[in-house]
Amino acid sequence: KGLRDQMVIDAGQKHFGATVCKSCGMVYSCANPEDEAHHIQYHQRFLDGIKYVSWSNERVVAQFWDGKIVMIQQGDSKYASKKAEDVRELVDRELGFKQVVLTYPTRTQTYLFVYNEKKIIGCLIAEPVRQAFRVLSEPSRTLESPTKNSLDPQRAWRCSTKPEKVFCGISRIWVFSLMRRKHIASRLVDVVRRTFLFGSYLSTDEIAFSDPTPDGKVFAAKYCQT
Ligand code: ACO
Ligand code: ZN
Repeated sequence: KGLRDQMVIDAGQKHFGATVCKSCGMVYSCANPEDEAHHIQYHQRFLDGIKYVSWSNERVVAQFWDGKIVMIQQGDSKYASKKAEDVRELVDRELGFKQVVLTYPTRTQTYLFVYNEKKIIGCLIAEPVRQAFRVLSEPSRTLESPTKNSLDPQRAWRCSTKPEKVFCGISRIWVFSLMRRKHIASRLVDVVRRTFLFGSYLSTDEIAFSDPTPDGKVFAAKYCQT
């Protein structure tokens, strides 16, 4: 993008008053009625989706000064399962996933980061996975070694052809846009490593991130080094 284009965009944003909603995080223009209508619709659906009301027998797997992590699994109450499903839908919409099937829906575990006892600001969905292919450092457009969703060029990372043994696949990880870079995703993964397989602490080599987005890849690379 040239400097000239950038200046036009900046001027345009000032003119139309682009703003970030402090509760739902959507960037929209107050001066554009269509945009504003879209925001009102999104806003309510988002806030309903992340609204957290504790349930009986909730499984608190970690507690922090700024929140807690609860885990939901097969067989939990209807209310808890519905919440997990609603948050997953919201995350899938943001990630642009359409009807991605879970490999083992009955053995999936959902971890929710709850802020202030009121809002879900992070979500991680973990599944039992036996093998994975390591993502090689550079994304490649020329080398054809497609991963599952290689239709999206941004996601066509080059993968090793040698399968490696893992125990846990992270099928989704998401943190509310206005709460990122506070180590919420890191804490979710820490807890998964500690609780996913009863009685063992998984190393970073024993977990795999499935089909990561650019954000996901930066995070995973950083997390797995530490
Ligand atoms: N740019 C650069 N470095 C980053 C970024 C980023 N966007 N995100 C994380 N990191 C690195 C940093 O080094 C960070 O530590 P630092 O802040 O002390 O420097 C470290 O990773 C740990 O980051 P966290 O704070 O734990 O990560 P966060 O809570 O912000 O969540 C996440 C990361 C989940 C990827 C978030 O950006 C997000 O929700 N993005 C949109 C959804 C998405 O793309 N999810 C991944 C999909 S792939 C999958 O689900 C398998
Ligand atoms: Zn809003």
